[in-house]
Amino acid sequence: MKRIGMLTSGGDCQALNAAMRGVVKTLDQSRENVEIYGFLDGYRGLIYSKFQMLTGRDFSGILTKGGTILGTSRTPFKTIQDPDENGLNKVDAMKQNYYKLQLDCLVILGGNGTHKTANLLREEGLNIITLPKTIDNDLWGTDMTFGFQSAVNIATDAIDCIHTTASSHGRVFIVEVMGHKVGWLTLNAGMAGGADIILIPEIPYDIDKVVDKIEERDKRGSRFTIIAVAEGAISKKDAALSKKEYKKKLEKRELSSVSYELAAEIQKKTGREVRVTVPGHMQRGGSPCPYDRVFASRLGAEAGKLILDNQYGFMVGYKNREIVKVPLEDVAGKLKMVEPDASIVQEAKLLGISFGD
Ligand code: F6P
Repeated sequence: MKRIGMLTSGGDCQALNAAMRGVVKTLDQSRENVEIYGFLDGYRGLIYSKFQMLTGRDFSGILTKGGTILGTSRTPFKTIQDPDENGLNKVDAMKQNYYKLQLDCLVILGGNGTHKTANLLREEGLNIITLPKTIDNDLWGTDMTFGFQSAVNIATDAIDCIHTTASSHGRVFIVEVMGHKVGWLTLNAGMAGGADIILIPEIPYDIDKVVDKIEERDKRGSRFTIIAVAEGAISKKDAALSKKEYKKKLEKRELSSVSYELAAEIQKKTGREVRVTVPGHMQRGGSPCPYDRVFASRLGAEAGKLILDNQYGFMVGYKNREIVKVPLEDVAGKLKMVEPDASIVQEAKLLGISFGD
């Protein structure tokens, strides 16, 4: 008999359900007797003992379903060791619930913050297996996270739609893409959507270089310019500030994001009409794309295999086209960023795309 706890934590993304289904289907194929405890709303369910007992049937028909059947929430790692409002020690509570239910392991699906807590629980002696989810693709130790390709599709669709209206009106259009502190999503959607300028956090931009590119396109007779801007994009000037100074500046920011700031600057410097589009959480919504369905199912299957082999303390990841197991202590607390001199960036530049640098 194996007792497995499962939870999804942090921002949701496409293919969370597909990944959980992959784990459960694999366990169901074995001769092992398995009990599944689904913790609700992320770590909160584990802390406050909110769970549902699930069977294989609960995971049937969810391959194509977006979101997560378990619900999710953000439980910041920063405060995980602090007592809750009633004085409860959250880490102790998670351990107690794990032992009370006599779990053999916890399967945790999440991104960066989630992995820090997962690793803490491993250090505290719990058996943990994790699966890499996030539209940001910023998890260290895996070339790809599930949710990413689906989000690239949606952000690309947004840029495609903007293309037609931008060309009719001859405007400058900014499409703000999610991705938190990294530029993977913007870089990929920007290239797929034929953006003329791509601004990502890893390559701080110079506003004058952005304007130069717009004017160069004007001179060539291109009536419009499309700029894909990562929500975390930063100007060279701001990148030169200390962390504290930049934080202060953001607190005082009157406009709602970097895109609106950029739009105002471009308008002032060029006199051109600039519009901003923010697809926002749409990028995390809807059905997973076929790539993510297959990818998440593969990761889930390999996680199921690790559980059957009693191998714990790993994230199931993807490296050089192989599914691999990565020690959790290697993953936690590291960010996988776009290298400014990565070949994809160089190739984008060869295509004439400006990064504003
Ligand atoms: O990490 C996924 C993500 O969608 C980021 O791209 C974005 O910055 C953040 O989550 C948004 O978080 P929330 O859903 O809490 O607004």
